[in-house]
Amino acid sequence: MSTSTVVVGLQWGDEGKGKIVDLLADRHDAVVRYNGGANAGHSVVIKGERFALHLIPSGILHKGKAAVVGNGVVIDPDWLARELDGLHARGVDTSSLVISDRAHVVMPWHKAEDELREKWLSEGSLEPIGTTKRGIGPCYADKATRGCAVRVGDLLTPGPLAKRLESICRLKTAMLSSIGGPDKAAYTYDHKATVDLCLAWGQRFKQYIQDTSAMLLDLQQAGKSILFEGANATLLDVDHGTYPYVTSSTCSSQGAAPGAGVPAASLGDVLGIMKAYSTRVGGGPLPTELIATEADCAMGDRIRQKGREFGTTTGRPRRVGWLDLVVVKYSARLNGAKGLSVMLLDVLGGIEQLNVATSYMIDGHPTDRITPHADWLARAKPIYQTLPGFGDLTKARKKSELPRSAIAYLDLIEATVGVPVRFVSVGPDREQTIEYS
Ligand code: IMP
Repeated sequence: MSTSTVVVGLQWGDEGKGKIVDLLADRHDAVVRYNGGANAGHSVVIKGERFALHLIPSGILHKGKAAVVGNGVVIDPDWLARELDGLHARGVDTSSLVISDRAHVVMPWHKAEDELREKWLSEGSLEPIGTTKRGIGPCYADKATRGCAVRVGDLLTPGPLAKRLESICRLKTAMLSSIGGPDKAAYTYDHKATVDLCLAWGQRFKQYIQDTSAMLLDLQQAGKSILFEGANATLLDVDHGTYPYVTSSTCSSQGAAPGAGVPAASLGDVLGIMKAYSTRVGGGPLPTELIATEADCAMGDRIRQKGREFGTTTGRPRRVGWLDLVVVKYSARLNGAKGLSVMLLDVLGGIEQLNVATSYMIDGHPTDRITPHADWLARAKPIYQTLPGFGDLTKARKKSELPRSAIAYLDLIEATVGVPVRFVSVGPDREQTIEYS
């Protein structure tokens, strides 16, 4: 069997996984998304043209590669339709897209519930999660509770679908209109209209829908290699992230097997993707966040602007911090990463001195290990090593073209995390990627 690869984010998302998936797609036979939904946003720049993908794996930009949306993904059909239209408008052939019949559908009530829950949390004694309001959590919750779930395959079975939706619409209307405030109409889900909507989605996507697990198992049996594309990132993993400030799926490499429907032993290589600094969107702790002083805020802003650190999905400005290797080391170990890809290193170009957290002080004790709980991480005070900065890196194409100080930065990453750096990205374009080792 050829080697398959899992690509996974080692921080809080937006590490630049799309670019590496795009690069590695050529070396694999199929690309599979195994978790998350339209909360993710992958940008790929090809010859100066930017593609922002949320649901469709970036493998779609490679002719002839199967681009698979696995059973572990939650699909918002309106987003999917918009994404397909956008790709068609730019002349991209989408005939290699395959969507799991067992993926779950994000229904209108999931987005409404996500929005209402965040509002409730912000008005009460609890903190909102800061979700993308894309209905991700409520859809995964319905998947787990089963009775009210709609799967992609259901969109192709009019009779059973209409029967199921009769009860589901009644229940969702009762639940949401009771907590949704005076605008009852906004939370009323008409049975016939919902059935029509679902059947229209089914018609639109039927050519892509199949049993993707069976398809992937056949590919593996035929010796083909698969690239598993993790969405979101390890510190957002529902079990291993900074709970409760996480998303609702298994974003780490462990999610690839159940989310794609293949044996865990077949996953192959794991490549961890990290930014050269830290960012986070939404609530929850970010120990190295640049907010303590005016100078810190200015530095955070400088990195944010240069790194275009605004959400691909929501447009929200991302919180920015120094590189946190305690986090990266934890994630690399958890995922079993055998290589690292350091993204956006060029963004730090021109900064005189760079801080890197290599351990924490927590409750008066030093540690280089994480307890993945939001309250614990919120108390952690980073201990920094300071390194000299470097200049413009955007023209470097091989390791020998990187300045000594950039190599020293990468050396510190390798030494602290204990995993070799394989790729270094020095700009958004496909060509601005160094095969480091
Ligand atoms: P949800 O996934 O919309 O429920 O959001 C839960 C948390 O995960 C929020 O803090 C989001 O900002 C964050 N989040 C979800 N997906 C991504 C991603 O792809 N990149 C960065 N943050 C994300």
